[in-house]
Amino acid sequence: MEGARLGDHALARGVRLEIYDEIDSTNDEAKRRAEAGDAGPLWIVAARQTKGRGRLGRSWSSLTGNLHASLLVSGFGPAALAPQLGFAAGLATIGALIEATGAVDRLALKWPNDVLLDGEKLAGILLEGVQPAGQGAPFGCVIGIGVNCVAAPTDLPYPASDLSRLGGPSAGALFALLSDKMAEALALWAGGSGFAALRERWLSHAAGLGAEIEARLPRETVSGRFETIDADGRLIISTRSGRRAIEAGDIFLPALAAARPEPERGR
Ligand code: BTN
Repeated sequence: MEGARLGDHALARGVRLEIYDEIDSTNDEAKRRAEAGDAGPLWIVAARQTKGRGRLGRSWSSLTGNLHASLLVSGFGPAALAPQLGFAAGLATIGALIEATGAVDRLALKWPNDVLLDGEKLAGILLEGVQPAGQGAPFGCVIGIGVNCVAAPTDLPYPASDLSRLGGPSAGALFALLSDKMAEALALWAGGSGFAALRERWLSHAAGLGAEIEARLPRETVSGRFETIDADGRLIISTRSGRRAIEAGDIFLPALAAARPEPERGR
């Protein structure tokens, strides 16, 4: 990936970086490293992925020029804390994008782990737990981040966007900012003790907060008002029959869909 380098904060915290032209999946490579005994923090970035993976078993189309990066971290505490890392990653990703583009009003975070540009998906995050090799080795997590820098797939069941709409930055330039923002977000999170502050910052960028939303779950769709994210990172919806806490799934934001310019809807 052209020009990919770590930022100064990441370097100061001992973060390492490996760059590939092509790989199956940066998440898979980070997991292989963990299984071979690497405790991280280690970023794996690749210009192309042949088997990029998304959430909920989906594939992630990995177009050349987009950012494909995975961070291996471990030793942060119990496995139950790992989902909180998705919020750190979301905050870091939107922070890097805002710093690079200045488009703070057009970027938003969509629960659990997406970044939206003008209401369309710009970036996705895939969190996976790993158990590094070695007796008593601490639990680890791979945080995979994909950002559509130059192009977005057109064959998706949801609208997607890319950074060319904002005039850049390139994947390499964005990665340096992301590596720093991620180091800062992990320091703020502090193994879970800083989650309340992290959550507040995440909510300040949340798409659809206070609006009517739908959570599309495998066996039902829950509709109601997006109230907040709780201390465990669950989505809290006020429905006619009471509050519901949603642990995983996709949400649909009707107000955002209605606000998108006509030619861009349904792409
Ligand atoms: C999603 O479904 O929204 C999550 C997409 C995550 C994609 C990134 S690209 C880098 C890393 N490697 C993968 O195979 N997936 C993640």
